[in-house]
Parts: sequence; C-alpha cells; structure tokens
Amino acid sequence: MKIMKNSYKVAIIGATGMVGQRFASLLENHPWYHVVAVAASSRSAGKTYREAVGTRWAMPTQMPAQMAELVVMDATADAEKIASMVDFVFCAVDMKKDEIKALEERYAKLECPVISNNSAHRATPDVPMIVPEINADHARVIEAQRKRLGTKRGFIAVKSNCSLQSYVPAMHPLMEFGITKALACTYQAISGAGKTFETWPEMVDNVIPFIGGEEEKSEQEPLKIWGQLEDGKIIPADGPQITTQCIRVPVSNGHLAAVFVSFDKKPSLEEIKEKWKEYRGEPQKLNLPSAPKQFLNYFEEDNRPQTKLDRELENGMAISIGRLRPDSQYDYKFVCLSHNTLRGAAGGAVLMAELLTAKGYMD
Ligand SMILES: NC(=O)c1ccc[n+]([C@@H]2O[C@H](COP(=O)([O-])OP(=O)(O)OC[C@H]3O[C@@H](n4cnc5c(N)ncnc54)[C@H](OP(=O)(O)O)[C@@H]3O)[C@@H](O)[C@H]2O)c1
Repeated sequence: MKIMKNSYKVAIIGATGMVGQRFASLLENHPWYHVVAVAASSRSAGKTYREAVGTRWAMPTQMPAQMAELVVMDATADAEKIASMVDFVFCAVDMKKDEIKALEERYAKLECPVISNNSAHRATPDVPMIVPEINADHARVIEAQRKRLGTKRGFIAVKSNCSLQSYVPAMHPLMEFGITKALACTYQAISGAGKTFETWPEMVDNVIPFIGGEEEKSEQEPLKIWGQLEDGKIIPADGPQITTQCIRVPVSNGHLAAVFVSFDKKPSLEEIKEKWKEYRGEPQKLNLPSAPKQFLNYFEEDNRPQTKLDRELENGMAISIGRLRPDSQYDYKFVCLSHNTLRGAAGGAVLMAELLTAKGYMD
C-alpha cells in the first residue's frame, strides 16, 4: 500500500437517489472518506439533503445527521465548485447516457477523479471497470486515460452492472479449469431499478420477465472484466461466453442467480468448493476497510442462499453460493447471491475507491 493521506474529502453526485442514499449511509463513519458535498439535479439543488430526499429515504438506518443539513448542489451548474472542494466524487445518476458521459468527463477534466456506478463509460476502452477482487490490475489503464483526457489526476473508473456481481465472482476462481460455456438466470430486486414497493406497487405479488438492457450488460461486461491491458486499452476476453435471462422479482434487495457451467478440464465438486473457500483478492490482501474477510461463502444447506437471510453477509459485501451439484446438460449447476445496492452498487464502488486510494491514484 502507498503512503496515503489520513483523510479524503468526497462528494456524492446523485446523492438523493437509491444508490446515492447507500453511499451516504456507507460513508457516514468511513475511516478514510468524509462527505463534504452532495449534488443532484436542479430539482433538488438549494434544498437541504433532508428536504430534497424527503419521503424517498429508503435505507434501514437513519439519514446521517451531518449530511442531512448539507445544501444539495447542482451536479452540472456547480461542477467547478464541487471539484474544487473535494479529492474525488462518487457518481450515480439517472440521466441520458451521453449526458452522463459528458458530466463524468467534465469532473475528470476538472482534475477530480470519478468513481462511477453508471453504465455510460463501461465500454470505453481506457476506463477500467473493476471488481476489486478480480481485476484490480486494470487500474493501470488510468495512465492512458489521463493522457487522452489531458489530466494529471482526473480520471473515471466504473463499477460493473449489479446483475453479474454474484456469478462472475463465483466463476472467476474456476477459470483455470477452462469454462467452455455458462448460463445464468438472474432474479433481481426492485431496488436495482431505484424503486421500493411503495413507489412500484405493480411489483407486489408479481414477476416481470424483462429488464431493459440488462441481458446485454450481463453477457458483455464479464468479458471486459476478464480482459487484458494492451496498448493503453482493455481488450475484452473472447470467453467464456455467458448466456443470460434477467428477471425482476418481488424482493426489496438482493440479486440471486441460477448458474450452469461446463468445463474443459472438469473439476470435482470438492475441488470447486475448495477454490471458492481459498480465493483471496487484492482487497483481502490489502485489508481494505470495506473488504469482506471471506469473499466467496459456500452454504451446504439445500435451501441456501436465501435473498432475505443472506444478502447482508459481511455488510452486504460477500458473495453467497449454494446448491452446487451435477447437471444433465452442463457439468454443474449452482445458485449464488449478492446484495445489489451494496456489493452491486455503492459498496462495490466504495471498495473500488479504497483500492485506487491504496494504490495512490487519489493523491
Ligand atoms: N439501484 C441499483 O442497484 C444500481 C446498481 C448499479 C448501478 N446503478 C446505476 O446508478 C445510477 C443511479 O441509480 P439509482 O437506482 O440510484 O437511481 P434513482 O434512485 O432514480 O436516482 C437518480 C439520481 O440521479 C439524479 N439525477 C437525475 N437527473 C439528474 C440531472 N440532470 N443532474 C444531476 N442529477 C440527476 C437524481 O436527482 P434528483 O433527486 O434531483 O432527481 C437522483 O439523485 C443509474 O445510472 C443506475 O443505472 C444502480
């Protein structure tokens, strides 16, 4: 770990939204980061954070008192001021893709690093899309991105989509056995759409078999995560190709996936469980504040993992896996789970920021 400052000032862009609220909760007592500014659209600007969020507060804990009285700034109109106040920003906004791209590049060009939950820049070849336990080394592409943007410290780093945060981690330690094909059906919570049962009553007692754009992201983003850095770009891997179906289910938080895999060199059931148990990534080695101690957790019980019971494991940052067994068409099948707004969104972004801070990118 590089020698770091004791404390970093940060802003949350999109602070009033579902992911923004998660950032607010997670950063309340963070040992390294201190929230000094919150920003959202012009609709919220000028109100206190408490007023702007109003009845939309959807977190299980109270709004952090220190943030409640901050006056919400306009993410676009106040960009220069925000960038001058902070060491970097977390960003999770619901805007058009080209507007998000422009907003994130603007902050980066103002020499303010952007840790993003948005999908707009995920396919940009010199923007790293980091799952800290899997591809921490992709951070090295930031040097090429800084050259392109003409910045000294400003850059954009993105989190991948929440849907894949259970099955990509579960598949990753098994890559050495040569995964030849994989299928994943996801059962995704309504908070993934920024909603609660109050704001989306149609979801009570219902399943909707379509989430716009989700299957494309769920199939393509893993290939970038498993990609290689060449000539200042991340070149996506050729495989393993994963085919997916993504389904919205009546659950508040937690995305579950049913996964089927085949291998070139088929491992035994015990070998697979051993690989999961032993797997450690950079966050565990660096002992980062938000890192789960045990990243991949296998349950022997037939009825686990359960969304409601297991999504909060290790503060919602661990992956739960169960029901590993042989399949008649693929080699094996199993079920896995991750918390979509913690590991899958704000928590994963905080962990990525910690990784980049530890590697010196925020100094
Ligand atoms: N929910 C998840 O599990 C999840 C997971 C991964 C990624 N994401 C991504 O994270 C982003 C936010 O998702 P969410 O679920 O938090 O959405 P959300 O609850 O609808 O919140 C949207 C946020 O964007 C702000 N916003 C809207 N228009 C804006 C503008 N013109 N300028 C500045 N801010 C603006 C809103 O501010 P106002 O309150 O002022 O309107 C609000 O703070 C999306 O890109 C989403 O794809 C979400």
